[in-house]
Amino acid sequence: MMDKNIQNDTDRFPLFHRMKNNHEINVYIKEQNRSMDAIGYTEHSFAHIGVVTERVGYILDTLGMDDHTIDLALTAAWMHDIGNIVNRENHSQSGALMAFYLLDKMGVPAEDIAPIIRAIGNHDEGNGMPVSSIAAALIIADKSDVRRSRVQCDDIGKYDIHDRVNYSVTSSRLKINQGHTAIKLKLEINTRFSEIGEYFEIFMERMLLCRKAAEFLNLEFHLIINEQTMM
Ligand SMILES: [Fe+2]
Ligand SMILES: [Fe+2]
Repeated sequence: MMDKNIQNDTDRFPLFHRMKNNHEINVYIKEQNRSMDAIGYTEHSFAHIGVVTERVGYILDTLGMDDHTIDLALTAAWMHDIGNIVNRENHSQSGALMAFYLLDKMGVPAEDIAPIIRAIGNHDEGNGMPVSSIAAALIIADKSDVRRSRVQCDDIGKYDIHDRVNYSVTSSRLKINQGHTAIKLKLEINTRFSEIGEYFEIFMERMLLCRKAAEFLNLEFHLIINEQTMM
């Protein structure tokens, strides 16, 4: 297995590191998660974007993309949920516009901003589509981040279905096979907290979008829950 933390390489990914150290961008990321917490949503802060960024890097590096493309993809992944600060509704589109403004202000050329905002604006189910390799990797990385530590509600008695499902996921791994023909999302779900049916109730649309995104990357998408192949 390759190094999962390729995003830490400052020489390979200069834009990503410059953006990650931008004060304003970090303020918006922190602030948007306060809104998610206030409306009872799961965690969308640095832990979430960290997982998404790592997975985007893993997918595109494994598939042999060039460093510049990966640099743009890591940047899109880190900023992808910034639009939640405006409103959860249409946050992918508002986030893309915010990213445009912030990156333009940093002097990033249009040729580099375009693929980033295209991916951010297409990362959410409902209206997002895998319109590029970066967008496809971002969709899979984002929709596969289900885990116990995303639950922000302190009172287990007040858990909604999203909290229950996230709380029940004790392990989540994403892996591309050696032949680069398939990508697998392997989940361990503790069914004491949520039935597997609940997972599908809230994530079916997301998993179908993952399949579409995988197809864009010429990969089959497989979902394995508790050792059982579901898709
Ligand atoms: Fe999002
Ligand atoms: Fe996200």
